[in-house]
Amino acid sequence: MRVTISRKAHFNAAHRLYRKDWSFEKNDAVFGKCNNPNFHGHNYQLTASVTGEIDVETGFVIDVKDLANIIYEEVELPFDHKNLNLDVPEFENLNPTAEYIAVVIWNKIKKRLRADFDLEIVLYETERNFVTYKGE
Ligand code: NI
Repeated sequence: MRVTISRKAHFNAAHRLYRKDWSFEKNDAVFGKCNNPNFHGHNYQLTASVTGEIDVETGFVIDVKDLANIIYEEVELPFDHKNLNLDVPEFENLNPTAEYIAVVIWNKIKKRLRADFDLEIVLYETERNFVTYKGE
């Protein structure tokens, strides 16, 4: 029996969407307000879902305390109250769109899980805008 267990978390972070190799005008046309040179913030809401076989001894797929701790170490500690462009090495040369933030989070959490676990990341950047990444 493969079951999915999910854990929610959140972090507040600033970012700016732009490409260093584009003019300000082109960045403005593509990214609009998100290209503000002085950055802007979001309250990101994250759901990390782990799918795997139920362990017959514990009845767990993964101990949710362990999943919560992985999310804390890999996402909340390095991202919360940070400027993603300036403070997080993964975004030094990667535009911190919701899409890429979800991919970075997936990679950081996936490497902490057993290889036979599947992982899905859902990341809300606003109440209405969210992205999903499953490592495909
Ligand atoms: Ni934004």
